[in-house]
Amino acid sequence: MTQADTLRKMMRPTAHQAVSSTHGTQPRVVCITSGKGGVGKSNFTVNMAYALAKLGKKVLVLDADLNLANVDVLLGMTPKFNLHHMFTGEKSLQEVMVTGPGGIRILPGSSGIMELANLTENQKLYFLSEMEELNQQLDVMLIDTAAGINENVIYFNLAAQERIVLLTPEPTSLTDAYALIKVLSTRHDVKRFSIVVNQAESEREALAVFRQISLVCDQFLGTLSLDFLGHIPYDKKLIQAVRSQRLITDLFPDAAASQMIVKIARQFSSSKPTLTTDGNIKFFWPQFS
Ligand SMILES: Nc1ncnc2c1ncn2[C@@H]1O[C@H](COP(=O)(O)OP(=O)(O)O)[C@@H](O)[C@H]1O
Ligand SMILES: [Mg+2]
Repeated sequence: MTQADTLRKMMRPTAHQAVSSTHGTQPRVVCITSGKGGVGKSNFTVNMAYALAKLGKKVLVLDADLNLANVDVLLGMTPKFNLHHMFTGEKSLQEVMVTGPGGIRILPGSSGIMELANLTENQKLYFLSEMEELNQQLDVMLIDTAAGINENVIYFNLAAQERIVLLTPEPTSLTDAYALIKVLSTRHDVKRFSIVVNQAESEREALAVFRQISLVCDQFLGTLSLDFLGHIPYDKKLIQAVRSQRLITDLFPDAAASQMIVKIARQFSSSKPTLTTDGNIKFFWPQFS
C-alpha cells in the first residue's frame, strides 16, 4: 500500500462524518458548474456563500476557474497571493486565504494553476493536509468552476460531494449543461445533480427549463436524480452590484435576485448532504485526472 493509499483510507469520511454541521468534521463540498460560460456561476457562488454565511455557516469559496479566476474581482478584493503560491511552496494555505464580506473565506485562483489536476503526488498530499486542518473550521465549501468540459472542470466536479448545475433559459445553456451531465454520468458515474435556473423571467419559466433538462436526461441518460434547487430572476441590480464590485446580496438585500439566492441558500441548508464516500476526500488524489 502506498502512502497515498494509506492516507486515502484514513481520510475517507464515514457516512457519519460526511454529515455537515458546525460541529462536524467534514464540510459539504459543492461544485458550481454549468457547461456554458457567462451564465452566472461566479456571481451565484459568491452570493450563495454570503447568504449561507448570514445563516450562520462557515463558508469557503474556492476559485477553481483556472482560465478566468475572478471571484476576487467580484468582491472588490486584490489578494496578494493565490493557490499558485501555495503549490510552489511560497505560501501556506492560511496565508493564501483571504476573508471577504460576511466573513466568507476565499481561496483565490490564478491562471497560473492551469495544471492543478496534474499536481505531483506530494503537492496533492500537502494540499490535502492543509485542507484537512481547514475542514474542521468549515461547514460548506463552494467551488466555482470554469466554463466548458475540460479536465479541470471534470476534476472539481468529481472532487465535490454535490454538484449544482446552473442553467439559463437559453437553449445553448441547456445543451451545454446536458453535455456536462452526460460526461459526468456516463463516464464517471455521477448520478445526482441539483439544478438552479438563473436569469429566468419567472418561476414558471425556470420550471419549464428544469422540465426540459429532466426530460432529455431521462430520455438519453437513464436513471439520474435531478433536483430543482431554485431559480434566480434576471435582475439589473445584479449588474449594478457587479460594477460596484459588491455582492448584490450585500448591497441590495431586498432585490429580487438577492431574495431568491437567500431562499436557495435556505433550501440548501435544510437539505440533507449526499451521504456517499465518493466525496471531497477525492480532492487532489492522484488517480483523478
Ligand atoms: N440574475 C442575473 N441577472 C442579471 N444579470 C446576470 C444575472 N446573473 C448573471 N448576470 C450577468 O452575467 C454576467 C456573468 O456572470 P458570471 O457570474 O461571471 O458568469 P460565469 O461565472 O458563469 O461565467 C454578470 O456579470 C452579469 O452581467
Ligand atoms: Mg465565472
